[in-house]
Amino acid sequence: MTAAPLILKLTNPDVTKDLDLSPAELRAVLDLAADVKRSPGLYRHSLSGKSIALLFEKPSLRTRMTFELAIQQLGGFFVGYEGLIGKREPLKDMARNLDRWVDGIVARTFLQKTIDGLAQWSKAPVINALSDMFHPCQALADMQTLREHFGALHGLKLAFVGDGNNVANSLMLCAARLGVDFSLATPPNYEASAAIITQARELATATGANITITTDPAEAARSAHAIYTDVWASMGAENEAAERRTAFSEYQVDDDLFTHTAPGAIFMHCLPAKRGEEVTDSIIESARSVVFDQAENRLHAQKALLLMLLS
Ligand code: CP
Ligand code: NVA
Repeated sequence: MTAAPLILKLTNPDVTKDLDLSPAELRAVLDLAADVKRSPGLYRHSLSGKSIALLFEKPSLRTRMTFELAIQQLGGFFVGYEGLIGKREPLKDMARNLDRWVDGIVARTFLQKTIDGLAQWSKAPVINALSDMFHPCQALADMQTLREHFGALHGLKLAFVGDGNNVANSLMLCAARLGVDFSLATPPNYEASAAIITQARELATATGANITITTDPAEAARSAHAIYTDVWASMGAENEAAERRTAFSEYQVDDDLFTHTAPGAIFMHCLPAKRGEEVTDSIIESARSVVFDQAENRLHAQKALLLMLLS
């Protein structure tokens, strides 16, 4: 039987945000994700005897299913918890219970500070499975998908059209460090945080990636290899759905927007999608759409992350 290759251990004990992975580690996660995808059998005992807690304050299909499957397919166990963290008992108590039982914690929270608090109080590593600020696991799968589709990442242009929110933040921070040009078109008042844009631009100086911020979807899409979008009203912002539909009405990804891209440009979405809002049915169902490749790669990218954090 062939043994699983030696796996690089991550420097940071937690992945609470994209920047917890260095650029070299980011590339190593993508390489390992590709190998895990190619040869899953090599890794089926790699987390043998490890237990992981999955905490979800918000609904999930992809993240939850793929973490549950990833852990089991690597030989580990998981336990699940649904509910607000820090409500029934202090967050610091919950973290210090969990770390007596499990080897890792995966948490989807409303607030980034809840993830940061878990990481502060738990001796077991914590992985961000989506907060209001970041979606690092999504960005890993998306970079894996882009690399598979185009063969290499450096020099690609990824356009994000829509809400300057968690998914856009994570993509921007990963793109900047992988040499992928990133253009973001948001309506006024829905921009990404100025601090994250500044950080991405600083990081991009090392790779030569261009980070473009605009309110014009056509400008963002110009010569792009991929257009990415996300829902207009994220989980927790559902009560703003009506006003957001008005604010984002010019930001729908449709056939017209793809007239500005490079030939062969693909459509990306983290899912769940609202057809008729951020994307037309014709685009998400078209041959350009790689949304299910992205969803598939959540499994492989998260396996790689778990292996590099825990094995
Ligand atoms: N893309 C994503 O995170 O999907 P879920 O909300 O279903 O986990
Ligand atoms: N921005 C979306 C992503 C869901 C995967 C949300 O936060 O609801």
